[in-house]
Amino acid sequence: MAARGLGLLTLLPLCARRSQVLRPIHRLLSRAGTVAADVRREEQSSGSVETGSEDRTPKKKFSEVQKERREQAKRTVLIHCPNKISEKKFLKYLSQHGPINNHFFYESFGLYAVVEFCQQESVASLQSVTRTPSMDTEAAIPFRSRFFNLRLKSPSNQPSEQPHAQCSSQSSPSSKKLFELLCDAESIDDQLNTLLKEFQLTEENTRLRYLTCSLIEDIAGAYFPDCTVRPFGSSVNSFGKLGCDLDMFLDLDEIGKFSAHKTSGNFLMEFQVKNVPSERIATQKILSVIGECLDHFGPGCVGVQKILNARCPLVRFSHQASGFQCDLTTNNRIALKSSELLYIYGALDSRVRALVFSIRCWARAHSLTSSIPGAWITNFSLTIMVIFFLQRRSPPILPTLDYLKTLADAEDKCIIEGHNCTFIRDLNRIKPSGNTETLELLLKEFFEYFGNFAFNKNSINIRQGREQNKPESSPLHIQNPFETSLNISKNVSQSQLQKFVDLARESAWILQQQDQDRPSPSSHQPWGLATLLLPSVANSLCLAKKKKKKPASERIKNLLESIKSSSAENSTDTNGKSTVSTQP
Ligand code: CTP
Ligand code: MG
Repeated sequence: MAARGLGLLTLLPLCARRSQVLRPIHRLLSRAGTVAADVRREEQSSGSVETGSEDRTPKKKFSEVQKERREQAKRTVLIHCPNKISEKKFLKYLSQHGPINNHFFYESFGLYAVVEFCQQESVASLQSVTRTPSMDTEAAIPFRSRFFNLRLKSPSNQPSEQPHAQCSSQSSPSSKKLFELLCDAESIDDQLNTLLKEFQLTEENTRLRYLTCSLIEDIAGAYFPDCTVRPFGSSVNSFGKLGCDLDMFLDLDEIGKFSAHKTSGNFLMEFQVKNVPSERIATQKILSVIGECLDHFGPGCVGVQKILNARCPLVRFSHQASGFQCDLTTNNRIALKSSELLYIYGALDSRVRALVFSIRCWARAHSLTSSIPGAWITNFSLTIMVIFFLQRRSPPILPTLDYLKTLADAEDKCIIEGHNCTFIRDLNRIKPSGNTETLELLLKEFFEYFGNFAFNKNSINIRQGREQNKPESSPLHIQNPFETSLNISKNVSQSQLQKFVDLARESAWILQQQDQDRPSPSSHQPWGLATLLLPSVANSLCLAKKKKKKPASERIKNLLESIKSSSAENSTDTNGKSTVSTQP
């Protein structure tokens, strides 16, 4: 297999190698370049904030979205461009290889273009006229990928009056901007929807995620030509915030599928293969070699770490050009299925995503979650908690997983490693909920519910939609929806759980207080969700409450005043760039 792989990685004469320095991730994605893309973007953002019961447009199956996006990514290339490039000339130059369907520019320590051709042959045509760079002091490891570097033959030939490529920021708003947007909102419902709109993955960011997987697939394909690299987790389950990691699944099942083909006569041909003692060891060996490949030959892949002894072995790396922190796993099909399940829950009712985004941002603002692994609650656990809470409403806003299983037909049947992962995949066949509760009420009730949940004896279970006795003594027990013997929050310590409970109670209390004492919109004071997202509000209020010095309304007023002035000072990071305290 390795020998076959060398076909793509064959060493050509030594050429210059671009230095690969691990840089902090900073993304400023640009706008898509076509009218069609603009229309789609409008549709996406407006569609995402309508209520589920109002939105009657048929929704695509998860598998259909994945198929379309993957196919689109295969026709797409990534180009590092000179800084001052004329967009018109750039497009004209590339159009020699075929018509372009869509393009956009973004900045990430340099200018990049994502260009989607109408036909895949155009990519091959572009590759056929592309050379491997040569320099005097360094050597290039040649790899004919879809990640290019465009240089100007003579930079002075670009007339300065030519309009340059337009880049617009696609990163989430600064704390200051978010604070303003939330304060200007008309209601708490409006605040939650605003936050969703500002933090959800944009069309361009989603395209870049699928493209990055497709580029990694090309590299892994050097060893395993029929492999597929699929995104999973928050990049595709509709709960991803701008800046979230890119979880990838190296799917080698397509390779095995050929054995299912019918053969004539009494013969059956099999590949000679190496055997190893267990599936886990096979996974570790495959990831080890792909990790080496990414490290040595993967254009733009830096900081490669092989974390092979984890429960789920993985290769972690930064994809420099896209700025994504990537986790590559294999043999992890169940996680792909949970992503599909979450996608369905997210699409069933628009209140789901709005509530999940706000809870995720709230948890991040109070350091309940972290990008560093540890004893913290994860975003995945928080999402399951919101789903569970919505299953517990009366009438329920979301159905249980067991109910989704009863709606499944023969084609939906799915057993993975002995686990029954069957549920209905066509979400248009699921009846919308009759529950009409507002987001404001749901937010308040979420904090009430989990502020008083019997975590010491009960487990959270979205399969049945009701609490169950905890089967083990972990402080927080959330049953994995498919591998039901697993607790997805086994890592969470008692003190982190206590912090979550305290903050939930405080947040419920703040919202209750504001019911009676809401500042007028003209006062430009933080209120509603804005109050909850400002770090340390709850802690300070908690202290103030304990001291019982002043009436609640006055304490809140004073505190919010001080936060308002300090938030303006704290809205830039050490690089002088705007930061968002609610980012992962
Ligand atoms: N997963 C799981 N069990 C866990 C942790 C993760 O099944 N204990 C699966 C889930 O499908 C999850 C995916 O792995 O969505 C990716 O995990 P992670 O990156 O931690 O969560 P995300 O949902 O992607 O959220 P984030 O935005 O924080 O990355
Ligand atoms: Mg993730």
